[in-house]
Amino acid sequence: MEYAIRDIISHARRYESRGKQIIYLNIGDPVKYDFKTPAHIKQALIDAVRNDENCYTESEGLPELRKAIVQKESQKGLSITEEDVLVTNGVSEGLEMVMASVVNPNSEVMMPGPYYPPYSSYVKFYGGKPVEFKLHEDGRPDMEDMESKVTPRSNAICIISPNNPTGEVFDHKSLKQVIDFANEHDLYIICDEIYDKIVFDEEFTGIAKVAKDAPLILLNGFSKAYLMSGWRCGYICINSSSNKLNDLRDNVPKLARVRISSNFPVQRAATHALRGPQDHIEEMVRKLRRRRDYVVKRLNGIEGLSCKVPKGAFYVFPKISLDGRWKDDLQYVLDLLNTTGVLSVHGSGFGTTYGSGHFRIVYLPAEEVLEQAMDRIERFMYQKTSK
Ligand SMILES: Cc1ncc(COP(=O)(O)O)c(C=O)c1O
Repeated sequence: MEYAIRDIISHARRYESRGKQIIYLNIGDPVKYDFKTPAHIKQALIDAVRNDENCYTESEGLPELRKAIVQKESQKGLSITEEDVLVTNGVSEGLEMVMASVVNPNSEVMMPGPYYPPYSSYVKFYGGKPVEFKLHEDGRPDMEDMESKVTPRSNAICIISPNNPTGEVFDHKSLKQVIDFANEHDLYIICDEIYDKIVFDEEFTGIAKVAKDAPLILLNGFSKAYLMSGWRCGYICINSSSNKLNDLRDNVPKLARVRISSNFPVQRAATHALRGPQDHIEEMVRKLRRRRDYVVKRLNGIEGLSCKVPKGAFYVFPKISLDGRWKDDLQYVLDLLNTTGVLSVHGSGFGTTYGSGHFRIVYLPAEEVLEQAMDRIERFMYQKTSK
């Protein structure tokens, strides 16, 4: 099992033990920066605890929360009832349950590279093989590449939109292409929309808009837009129109029963998050857009680095001209850490085929911190080029 985003921290601890301070740009947790859980969501959790809602809940999740989830995802076009929703301890647990149910030994799971690391880790853990496919420069899936990589062993395709680590967002046409491809090759579609509310330039289109009766399993959660990362709450939705998903609809809840239930007070808070005021999201997106624009401009002004403008989430994924100065992206990231104290994540941790030669930066910190980080990266690149 690998998780580059946190695996890198052991290097940071060594650096800190020398009495030096780190600028953390490695973990996508907005609550660690100046985005705080809204007061009404905190209050809902406190009230639940005070009202002695401290016992187990139904394994599938609180009926009221499942209802609120149906409302949210139906508005995005998904055909579901409460029976098709399962509340999990974060998208991470939901993803593990789905992979445990879908992946057989030797089955191949396709995912666009670069990808969020747990997707490949869980596929491998359950005996399958992750297969990365290519995206065009404009972010659209490369259908020719996908066709060349699908085999009789392929049984699922994953989409993360907006994507971690690139911030790429699949548009209507790309989503339709993926659905058609999956239908043609009889693949499950696992789609992660945890960043659905964090998009900057265009309105977000969810995959459900084009899914119809395709075997779509949708993952989403409360860690990002609702700023509840440490409380661990997410969910799985199973497209009710798909017959291919009938077994899964019976089997995934069995995994939920084995782990008993999700956290009760947190589920109350999540219900209030979906039903209550949403204005903090607009404010968050506005702040993030400014930070994105600043970081992209600075990075593209540094010789040896180049990055695309992310359309959503809160990551940039610059390409590094290694030019023989660094062996690979991991060496670059460690050298950057040890020289400047800026902690990022090596791109190969997001898949070696398309992630190598890049690094990922989280642009959640306040602008003055980002400015300091960018200054340090700029000086670092300059020192290296002038050697
Ligand atoms: C694409 C994606 N999915 C899932 C997660 C984890 O979500 P959760 O906190 O709900 O487990 C992350 C966290 O960074 C993510 O980027």
